[in-house]
Amino acid sequence: MNVACYIRSLSAYAPEGILTNDHMSKLTDTNDEWIVSRTGIRERRKLADTENASDLALIAARDVLQKAGMDIDALTHIVVATSSPDRISPPVAAILSGLLNAGQVMAFDISAACSGFLYGMSLCWSILARETGARILFVCVEAMTRRLNWNDRGTCVLFGDAAAACVLTAESKGVSPLLEDVICKSDGSLNELINVGGGSSCQYKLGDTIGEDFFISMNGRETYKHAVRQMSLVCEEILERNGLGIKDVNLFVPHQANLRIIEAAGSRLHINADRVFVNVDKYGNTSSASIPLALYEAHAAGRIQSGDRVLITAFGAGLTWGAGLLRF
Ligand code: UT7
Repeated sequence: MNVACYIRSLSAYAPEGILTNDHMSKLTDTNDEWIVSRTGIRERRKLADTENASDLALIAARDVLQKAGMDIDALTHIVVATSSPDRISPPVAAILSGLLNAGQVMAFDISAACSGFLYGMSLCWSILARETGARILFVCVEAMTRRLNWNDRGTCVLFGDAAAACVLTAESKGVSPLLEDVICKSDGSLNELINVGGGSSCQYKLGDTIGEDFFISMNGRETYKHAVRQMSLVCEEILERNGLGIKDVNLFVPHQANLRIIEAAGSRLHINADRVFVNVDKYGNTSSASIPLALYEAHAAGRIQSGDRVLITAFGAGLTWGAGLLRF
């Protein structure tokens, strides 16, 4: 694509409520030792009972607009990636638009599970190619804890809530990270591996008690195998098609689902642990928000310098997966 896609600013917000592994052991039959050894997760964030996904999105959005020095009136699009919206309809993007008082901007959600950041970046780049003057607010937000089945200990310990936001334009200002390339893939024949309920398959009548199909369910073992294999393969593919090798990557920021998956993917790619960013210990799996939250923290911690190339990759329900290259 000839038109560039720059991240003019980036922000993230995780709700204040912390659920440690010890908290989890009071809610379900688990313990800190099992969770840490199998996943690397020590705690995750949980939104308050009074909050919804759009409230987290609003905090990240206001901050990112302020960092970009951009008025709300300047926005042309609001795009939200989420698998845990406030409601099935209206889209979180429309709710957010109302909260921001953003006028009549084009506002819609995309659903690509944990690959939402990559799919959203790809889509926003296409929007910029068609409308070079577009100024897009792109938010990834998840309220995953609203969909946890506390009877399913293999799944409920994994997820947390967060939001991350960026402003995307075709022109840079100061030092704006450039999206050099992005690849998005899927295999719908494996759609049963991870599910979040609440759609038309949940056939409840008023007064019915909700069943387990309302919550997140997952075949963890199978998902694990596909995650490691596909994330490594798509990372190799994106490097190869850009004439790059792993030596050209300053930092690897994979989807933060599980430390073992991150380590296995890193080892397949032959990248040293000191060039791999990890924050899954603090947040668990925040689905679409995972990569931008990690990018935000890596940058704030000085792990990304101007001129650095960052390789990002994600994997999630669908199955969906992909990889991207960013140049800071
Ligand atoms: O964005 C992508 C999202 N998906 C993922 O990231 C999931 C990928 N998969 C995984 O990360 C791993 O498969 C899990 C962490 C979910 C599970 O690890 P595992 O090594 O595959 O464990 P398992 O499901 O095979 O269970 C092993 C044992 C079982 O006990 P028995 O049958 O061997 O006695 C489980 O009942 O561990 C037990 N177990 C637990 N024990 C304590 C499962 N969950 C827990 C738990 N606490 N939370």
